[in-house]
This record gives sequence, structure tokens and C-alpha cells, in this order.
Amino acid sequence: MKSAEIRDKFLKFFESKGHQIVASSSLVPHEDPTLLFTNAGMNQFKDVFLGFDKRPYDRATTSQKCVRAGGKHNDLENVGYTARHHTFFEMLGNFSFGDYFKLDAIKYAWELLVDVYQLPKERLWVSVYAEDDEAYEIWNTVIGIPAERIVRIGDNKGARYASDNFWMMGDTGPCGPCTEIFYDHGEHIPGGPPGSPDEDGDRYIEIWNNVFMQFNRDENGVMHLLPKPSVDTGMGLERIAAVLQHVHSNYDIDLFQSLIAAAARETSGEKMDSPSLRVLADHIRACSFLLADGVIPGNEGRGYVLRRIIRRAIRHGYKLGARAAFFHRMVPDLVAEMGSAYPELVSGEKRITDVLRQEEERFFTTIEHGMAILEGELAAMGGQGIFNGETAFKLHDTFGFPLDLTADICRERGVSVDSAGFERAMNRQKEQARAAGKFQMAATLEYAGPSTTFHGYDTLDFKGKVLALYKEGSPARELKEGDHGVVVLDETPFYAESGGQVGDRGVIQSTQGIFAVDDTQKIQATVFGHQGVLKTGTLKVGDAVTARVDLLARSRTMRNHSATHLMHKALREVLGEHVQQKGSQVDPDKTRFDFVHNQPMSDAEIRRVENIVNAEILDNADCQCRVLPIAEAQKLGAVMLFGEKYGDEVRVIDIGSSRELCGGTHVRRTGDIGLFSIAAEGGVAAGVRRVEAVTGDNALAYMQGMETTLGGVAGTLKVQPGEVPERVNAMLDQIRRLERELSALKSKLATAQGDDLVGQAIEVKGSKVLAVTLEGADINALRETMDKLRDKLKSAAVVLASTVDGKVTLIAGVTSDLTARVKAGELVNMVARQVGGKGGGRPDMAQAGGNDPGKLPTALASVAAWVEQRL
Ligand code: ALA
Repeated sequence: MKSAEIRDKFLKFFESKGHQIVASSSLVPHEDPTLLFTNAGMNQFKDVFLGFDKRPYDRATTSQKCVRAGGKHNDLENVGYTARHHTFFEMLGNFSFGDYFKLDAIKYAWELLVDVYQLPKERLWVSVYAEDDEAYEIWNTVIGIPAERIVRIGDNKGARYASDNFWMMGDTGPCGPCTEIFYDHGEHIPGGPPGSPDEDGDRYIEIWNNVFMQFNRDENGVMHLLPKPSVDTGMGLERIAAVLQHVHSNYDIDLFQSLIAAAARETSGEKMDSPSLRVLADHIRACSFLLADGVIPGNEGRGYVLRRIIRRAIRHGYKLGARAAFFHRMVPDLVAEMGSAYPELVSGEKRITDVLRQEEERFFTTIEHGMAILEGELAAMGGQGIFNGETAFKLHDTFGFPLDLTADICRERGVSVDSAGFERAMNRQKEQARAAGKFQMAATLEYAGPSTTFHGYDTLDFKGKVLALYKEGSPARELKEGDHGVVVLDETPFYAESGGQVGDRGVIQSTQGIFAVDDTQKIQATVFGHQGVLKTGTLKVGDAVTARVDLLARSRTMRNHSATHLMHKALREVLGEHVQQKGSQVDPDKTRFDFVHNQPMSDAEIRRVENIVNAEILDNADCQCRVLPIAEAQKLGAVMLFGEKYGDEVRVIDIGSSRELCGGTHVRRTGDIGLFSIAAEGGVAAGVRRVEAVTGDNALAYMQGMETTLGGVAGTLKVQPGEVPERVNAMLDQIRRLERELSALKSKLATAQGDDLVGQAIEVKGSKVLAVTLEGADINALRETMDKLRDKLKSAAVVLASTVDGKVTLIAGVTSDLTARVKAGELVNMVARQVGGKGGGRPDMAQAGGNDPGKLPTALASVAAWVEQRL
């Protein structure tokens, strides 16, 4: 039976059982950020299982394109080396959304396999989740599979629910126990039944997985019941085809024959049984389908997985003798094989071929060198030891060998790779890149062309030519209106972020378009990327342009940068020579400067630093810039930063009395800074302080802002600004005095009320009962009053209440002759419960709170009866 017929029969069978045939969804799960690629038929129904989405049908069936490379389900490493793993495959599935459950799912599966596909029953094995007695019973008693061919599998992967028989889409999402159906390919193939030590052999192959969706797993690993138990099944088309075509390996089925022949034709042509041919046949499917669904090879996320698969394919071609781009020539063979089932391959054929060819050509420029290094290292190892992680990283970084590619080759030679060492090298480089510039995208753009010449020390306006363009991280020939991208020029006045100074912004203009630059970053040491958006028209590689830096922003940045040098020097003068720069950031708004010093600066120190810097500004000295050999600069006593790397030639900048090595842009005379003010001082880490300062018009605006605030306060207080501190202090004293008086008055008032209250007590069985509210009394006043009342009433049970801001305070007191029968704690609690609270205390005195003042009168009214019952 041909694969196409198997696919068709599956869908038709379930259609006859009331299932809607639904088209495969894209390999890119656009809606689901938790998922790299579509990896199962159920992905497109995830929200239906979760109860967030409703379809017009409760039963569905699909043939779904899947990729399992990267992410939770990753088969990349196994491809080519087992008979049954693929990066791309088609999954046949039937789904019940709260309709049928275990019994029907199992019955349907059995009917299809035995009656429609006519598989011999005795070759079928099943596994069930160890705790799923129901599924076990259905297989055993309803279907009639003998117990020796039913395997129970528990949590065999090291955690609760981590099991071959508990299926999860990813770390979160719908999941549940499953039952798997296996086909025994026969004794001549090595391998054991599921659950046995050699289950990984190719003899017993899982052909169908029936998942009983019952839970939604959240980010914390907690399982929540789904609204309705559901069914999700998946049968790999390639695996069932192998069974039905009486071959043991998936790669021997019809779908792969022409692809393996194409791989052989495009490479060596001879060794038809080489695993590399199988890898190529598999990978051309994954790559083409991913490209058809819009994935572009790149350095991150989905794009990087695609790039890795392509490079892995190229390397296997290389192994078979290919020395130039060949892989893309397999695309027409794939289109011929699968185009009728997947029309997107037909319409995308040219684009898929072109992108693959470009990607191949790029890797072929470095693979030769990389392979030479790798082979040299492997030969030296002689099949023993662990491949050096640094070398693996170098292969990755310089020659474009993804780590898994290196690992793959190593595995063939029986050695493993020090992946921890690789990670260390990778992290070190990332750190360096971060330190060199924040713009991660620019740092990862691939560029091999002439450098950018920087003219921005002398001018803010320069003519140049577009050397390269990037859109979404990939090279582009042109940018269109609205495109965000990066422009590389041969000549530019734009300063690219470095040495703590941010990149320039401004405009790049051609006769055809205007590109607004919002940041400039180095792509490489001497290649500048202008990042921004094309406002109008178009911009093409080769266009002549005028590049204009935003004058205002740059002037502010320069003032801040030059002031930073002066401040650095002043800080050393005021705080001591231990002051060392730890970091700085200079942008148009401010300068932020971190330095070594282990206590907060006093106000006086801050003022002194400001005064020194402003004196230098008033001096209006010429600034000087010299480019000198490093040794000479050292002799001149220029400040160099520890740990910083300098070239042979350095720029020595004199600003006022300061002298530093610096690549940044600066004012011509100190007077250009205008004004300098420290706006904030604080600690950032143990022994490191941070000051933020402003200059020029920013400093003026900062000071005017402070003055406006102070003026506002003075106005409200009706004094002159200079009199504000005195006035505020006097007011604070007055408030403290008033508070004391108020408290004394309250307690007097409460006591006075206490005298009146004696008369309000009622007589109950020879004792007095009193339950009243004291308006405005705080807890102290209540207590004092209570003491007085107990004295005066002699034998009594008293409840006093007050309400302040919607909160009820209660206090109960009982004279000692009554506490054996009437307990203050119980009494106060009885009242408190009625006003939404509770409380307790000693038998003679207890206290409580509540938050429902509306119920207070009724609650107090209940006291007399309550006490009477107990007397
Ligand atoms: N979603 C299940 C699987 O992929 C059927 O195995």
C-alpha cells in the first residue's frame, strides 16, 4: 500500500466515524510562543482541549506536518542512525474534544489496524500507563490482547508523570496518560519489547500513540483537570507505511526512494546504503517544508534550528564527496514526490531552492577549513578522550559549525565533546560582546566587506555610499518605506556606541529615501551599523547618501562626555586617588559615572566637585586631542582604565586640567559645557558609588525644575523660598505639640463620658450590664474608661465600642465576682463576630476588632441577654 493510500484510508476511516477532516496547520505555531515547531497533530487543537476555543465539531482527524528538531521533542541526533527517526514527518491523528474517550479510542485504533490495514493481530503489542487499569482492562478483556503483550510503564523518566506512557506537548499545556501500539518487525531484527532493557532496538516499533488528555500542566508543573476528558492520537505515516510495505526501515518506504536516489545522484552516486543518504533524504524534507512555511535560516530560534539542519545536511554531503552547493538540487525531487499532497511546496519551489543555495554557498566557504581543523584534532586524539570545548567553540564561531554538528562527527569517531567547555567559551564571548556594545543584533549581523571610515570628530554631515543593508537580521538588497533595518556606509559622521558613549542618531538621506537613524552600533570593530527605520521611499545597496547627525542630541552628548572627564578628575581631588572609574554611560540626557569609593558622598563633597568642574567650565580652556603611540601617552600621564584594551595608537584628550585616553567625541572649549550639576548620588554595589550629572541646557532645566518646586512650596507656605526650611521645621514642631494635646483631651473626654455612662447601666440579676459606643475614643481612652466603670459599678459586665474610619474597636470588662460565669474573652468575641471580627483576652478584660460598623448597634443590644443567661 502506497503512503498516499495509507494517508487517505486513515482520514476516510475516521470520517466514517463522524470525524471532520481538518487540514494540516503550518509548521510554525504562530499563536503559541511555548512551541518551537509544530510537533504533534494536537498542536492546532491545544486551545480546544483547554476549553478556550470551540469548534463546530467534536471529532476531528488530520494528517499533520511535524518537525521534531530542537525543543522538547528532538529527534535530530537520531536521524540517519535508526530506522524510524525523522526531523520532519507526517502524523496521522484522530481527536475527540470531550466526546468519546478510552473505550472508543482503543476500539477505533484496533479496527483500523486489524480490519482496514489488515495487520496480523499477533504482531501487535501495547503499552499502558502503569496506573491506567481502565486502559489495561479494555485491551485485555474488550479487545482480547493477551496479558503477555500488554506492558505497563510507570514514571520511568525520573519524575512524577515523566513517563513514556504519559504524553506532554511541552513543559506546559494539555497532557495525559497514553497507550502505545507497537509492531513486532520479527525475530531477525535486534531489539526488545517496550519496557525491556533493549527496547531501543528496531524490532518493536511504536506505530501509534493514543493519548487520553486529562490535564493541563502549568508553569509550576501543577496538573489541572481539563474541562472534559479528550483524546489525541498520533501515528507516524512513515512508520505505518514501513509496516504495510513490509520493509523494516522507514527509509525503505516509497516516499523516500526517490529522495535517496536524488541524494546519491547529487553526491557520490555509489553507496546506496550510507546513513548519510538517509540523512539527506530526511533533511531535504524538513528544510523545504520549514522554508515553505516561512522560516528563514538565521542565528536565533527557529531560524537557527533550520540553519543547523541545513549545515548537518551539507556536512553529510561533504562526507559523500560533495565540494560545492548540491543540496538545493534535491528540491525538485521532493516537489515531485510530495507536491500534490502539499501544494505549498509547488508554489514555494523557486524560493526554497534559492534560499537553500545561498545558505549552502555560504557554508561551503568555511566547511573545508573547519573540517581540516576538526580532522586534525580527531586524528591526534586517536578515538579517545573528550573533544576540546574551546576548539568546538572556535569551529562554531569562526567556521559556522553548530555544536551538534561537531558532536555528530565526534560521535562517529567514538569521542564526545566537552559541551560545558563550549558553553564557557560561548558565555565569555557573549560577555565581551555585551561589554563592547549593547546592540546584540548589530553584533550578530554577518558582514564581509570594506570598513566604515568615521568622520564624526570633525563634522556632523558627510556624503557616503550604502555598502550593505539588513532587515530583521538578514542581508537585504533594499529597504522599503516602514522597514526597520540596519544600514552600513563606507563613510559616516555617526559615532557608533563605544567607551560608554551612546551611538548617534540622525538621518541618512538619498535622492530616493529618508532613513531615520535611532542608534549606531559597531557590527565589527570598524564597520558601523546605523539602525533605524526607512521613513519614505526606498534605500538600496550602492545608493549615494548624505548622513546627518542630530546636532542637538550630539551636542548634549559631547557636553556630558567632556564633563565626565572633568568630574572624574574632580572626584579624585575631593575624595582621593582611590577613585577609579567602574563604568560610565554618556547619552544626550546625562552622564552616569560609577566609581570605587566606600561611603556616600556628603553634601559638601558634592558641592566641591560641582564647584571644581564649573570653575573649569568658566575657564573656557581649549580642548586638545592628540593621536599618539601608547608609550608616549603613558609618559604624558593620561588616565587609562584598568582592564581596558588599547591599540598601538591612542587618542589622548585634554579637557581643562584632565587628561584621558578616549575615543569619544568632545567639546572644543570647556566653556561649551555651559553648566554642570550633580543630580543624584547613590550606591550601586559594595564599594561602588554612582553619580548622575547633567550639563548645558539639561543642567539649566534641572535647576529650573528644582526652583519651580521650591517656589511652589514657598507659595503654599506664604514665605520667601529662603525661609522654607525654617517654616517647615516650625510646622513640624507645632504638629507634634498638637498631637500630644489631642491625645490628652481625648482621654479626658472619655473619662467624662464614663461618669455619665454609669447611669445607663441596667440591672440584671443584681449586677450591672452596660454596652455602649464611645464616639471617637481610641483604645487607650476605651481602657481608661473601662477601668473607671468597673470601679464605679462594682459588680458588672461592660462592653465599650468605638468606630474610627470604618473599623470597630471593642473592649469587654467583667468584675472579678462575675468572671467565673461571664468571661470577658467570650463576651467580646460574641460581639465581635456580629461585626465581622474576632478577639479574645483575659476573663476580666478582653479586646477585639471588626469591620462592619453598621451591625454594631444590634450587636451591643444583644449583650444584656447574653450576660443574663450566664448569671
Ligand atoms: N500527541 C501525541 C504524540 O505526539 C499523540 O505522540
